[in-house]
Amino acid sequence: MSYTFDENIDRTNTNSVKWDMTDHYFDKEECLPLWVADSDWETAPEIKEAIKNRAEHGIFGYTYPSEELTQTVIEWVKNQYDWEIKKDWVVYANGVVPSINISIRALSIPGDGVIIQTPVYFPFISTVKNTGRQLVNNQLINDDNYYKIDFEDLNYSLSPENEESCKRGELLLFCNPHNPVGRVWNKEELKKINETVIKNDLILISDEIHSDFIFEDNKHIPAASLSKEIEQRSITLMAPSKTFNIAGLHTSFAIIPNKKIRRKFKSVKDHLVGAGSIFGLTAMQAAYSKGEPWLKAQLEYIKDNIEYTADFLDENLPQVKYSKPEGTYLFWLDFREVESCSEDINNKLVKEFSVALEPGNWFGEGGAGFLRMNLATPRNNIKNALEGIKKYIEKYYK
Ligand SMILES: Cc1ncc(COP(=O)(O)O)c(C=O)c1O
Repeated sequence: MSYTFDENIDRTNTNSVKWDMTDHYFDKEECLPLWVADSDWETAPEIKEAIKNRAEHGIFGYTYPSEELTQTVIEWVKNQYDWEIKKDWVVYANGVVPSINISIRALSIPGDGVIIQTPVYFPFISTVKNTGRQLVNNQLINDDNYYKIDFEDLNYSLSPENEESCKRGELLLFCNPHNPVGRVWNKEELKKINETVIKNDLILISDEIHSDFIFEDNKHIPAASLSKEIEQRSITLMAPSKTFNIAGLHTSFAIIPNKKIRRKFKSVKDHLVGAGSIFGLTAMQAAYSKGEPWLKAQLEYIKDNIEYTADFLDENLPQVKYSKPEGTYLFWLDFREVESCSEDINNKLVKEFSVALEPGNWFGEGGAGFLRMNLATPRNNIKNALEGIKKYIEKYYK
């Protein structure tokens, strides 16, 4: 079957956060919104069909995830990431962000430190703050726009010599592949992360929601899959929501090999957060059992969007620096040579050139001066956004 990603489907008046609420966040009524991380194409036809069939039944009472679904999840994790998980380890939830919240509440107490690595998906920051935990920032190193983990800083922040003992982390909230910088952490880096977690008696909460968007020779390795020891100190959070563009169906799962950690997670989750809706669970089943050919086609299209964007920037906008994403469909653009404050850039770009990208300073320390552009959209949207950025730079910086 051939799939199309090139068609512009009108998403306005569909209660889309990206297409109907941009003026709520940005100061402009109508513009091209390439900010929120969902895709502008239909989900896989197999998923649409499964939802339609389920809707036909007409009764939508209380539901639960089936054994068949768990078996399908186990096979997906094995086939895609080469990790053998057991059925008891899978705990369903209605989103990765709620699961981050649950993990923090289940495994730490107010005042405990939670390590994050900025610039990072901003709910990491707000969730730690909202739960009354201490934010311990192990900022990533920006090496000519190729980001690396600062292991020296990480180990120092955890060492007994560090007198700021209140800042000692109990949990490491990890993002792999990393939103927004697009790194797919490699085996060496993951091994070092795991060593740090084990040595310092931490628990690893690994958000791997972007794990199916991997390009070139990179490979997604679930951080917890590297050893039995790290499995026992981890919660891995995954979902079909980005992969198959079904974020509005609110469905996700956690992989928790350790019984005690699982019990704690469940005790916070139960009667607070459900296991997902009928349509979410139906979509997950169809996605993981029938969606792979569609996913492969989608990856080809996004890969071409990445190349298109990189070529455009090289030819027209050498002031805007970048490193192509190894994973995710998010392009992290370095505007620091153009202007130092991304909030201002955003205002001018939105107001005068009608292009809304996500301002880098939303992502915490190290984010100012950057903009994040969502490439999961038909190519002509990308072309128009890049033309808008070009006009903006020509007007103000040439
Ligand atoms: C790293 C990361 N985690 C979690 C989410 C959202 O997860 P959910 O919609 O399942 O709460 C996003 C969405 O952009 C994300 O980029």
